[in-house]
Amino acid sequence: MTEGLTSFYGLVDCSTLPRFTMPAAQPLEKTKKVTVENNGAQVVFEVPERMELIRKVGSGAYGVVVSFKEKTTGQKVAVKKVENAFNDLIDAKRILREIRILGHLKHENFIGIQDMYPPKSPDFEDIYIVTDLMETDLHRVIYSKQELTDEHFQYFIYQLLRGLLYLHSANVLHRDLKPSNILVNKNCDLKICDLGLARGLAESDSAGADAPLTDYVVTRWYRAPEVVLDASNYGRAVDVWAVGCIFCELLGRRALFTGRDHLDQIKQIINILGTPKEEDLQWLPQGGAARRFLTKIPSSKGKRLTEVFPKANPDALDLVSKMLAFDPNKRISVDDALKHKYFEGLHSEEDEPRCDTAIDWSFDNFQPTKPLLQQKVYTECAVFHPDILDRDAAALKEKGWDREARKRLAEAETARKQRSEESSTQ
Ligand SMILES: Nc1ncnc2c1ncn2[C@@H]1O[C@H](COP(=O)(O)OP(=O)(O)O)[C@@H](O)[C@H]1O
Ligand SMILES: [Mg+2]
Repeated sequence: MTEGLTSFYGLVDCSTLPRFTMPAAQPLEKTKKVTVENNGAQVVFEVPERMELIRKVGSGAYGVVVSFKEKTTGQKVAVKKVENAFNDLIDAKRILREIRILGHLKHENFIGIQDMYPPKSPDFEDIYIVTDLMETDLHRVIYSKQELTDEHFQYFIYQLLRGLLYLHSANVLHRDLKPSNILVNKNCDLKICDLGLARGLAESDSAGADAPLTDYVVTRWYRAPEVVLDASNYGRAVDVWAVGCIFCELLGRRALFTGRDHLDQIKQIINILGTPKEEDLQWLPQGGAARRFLTKIPSSKGKRLTEVFPKANPDALDLVSKMLAFDPNKRISVDDALKHKYFEGLHSEEDEPRCDTAIDWSFDNFQPTKPLLQQKVYTECAVFHPDILDRDAAALKEKGWDREARKRLAEAETARKQRSEESSTQ
């Protein structure tokens, strides 16, 4: 139990909380098993009978993603299954984080959670997350034969920045932006996914902290210099750097900085951008390990972006150079990037919403144990399927989970009401 929650419990008698009524509650349904092949292994998806398998659409570090069609409505969704989700507690905590953050975000450029399939009992091992289905991801687009024009780049990068403006205003950094975590449709609509590595902007340790960033299984190629050199020093600018790298990958159809390790990553960055001037290194502590690390790298004059991308629109390259500023303090902000000349035809301040309520990271402030994580994910499923609380009433009482579940449901209900009021006044 976290300190924050303990004190909250001290103030509120949960037995007086209103009984939760979620109008969108879906009754518990009969399920069926569907087997999908994933890299030679068979993965069994247990889904409601009304779902028809379309195909496997992807897999990542944690899950297998499969598309399904709802028989009666024809609506298509993506279902991500995370098998034996609680075997690794750090990974399970990331999945919970993804569920909570995606549940909070309501924005066109973020994937939305439509459902969490209800577990069969409170002792469950697999997690199913149902999201809006997109046709493909940007990695596949970049490495396909599809012709890509400057309009594509403009529209993709614009939407990416529009999403980031909203995300950062919700007090969340993505920290793992890369082409495979950016989903797109044929009409070029773009949605960001995979928020497992997201973290709060606040200085406080409770803001999504877990293992040090350097231990993460994040793709190195999109990491900003401040992340590669000094994991404790980062802010919104890390996401801007990643957008700069993705932008270049679109322009050149190959990744820009493909470091084999930490040192090689910085080497490659310096090889293109040139050795940073002393004035661009003020943020790095004097005499620290990172400074010594930098001195190991041969000095470089860098390359002109016009040589690296001879066919690119000069405005695009101007923006790229500002996104790839070595000094995080000098890197262009998301706000200013949206106002850049390159987006003249797209930018409209009224249509670039920010999030009204920043995410409260106290949900993430707990020492992970399997039962605690199970309880928290179970509760998120109950937000979509409150019926499981009645079905499992005896087991929940025994585990002492019912109070927490009802409190979270009441919280979700309040948030839902707030949102519907906000959207009706807009
Ligand atoms: N909603 C979706 N629609 C279409 N494809 C998706 C969707 N969600 C994920 N994918 C595909 O599955 C891959 C893995 O999903 P992701 O959420 O990034 O999982 P992981 O955390 O395991 O990397 C993505 O790179 C993408 O290709
Ligand atoms: Mg991913």
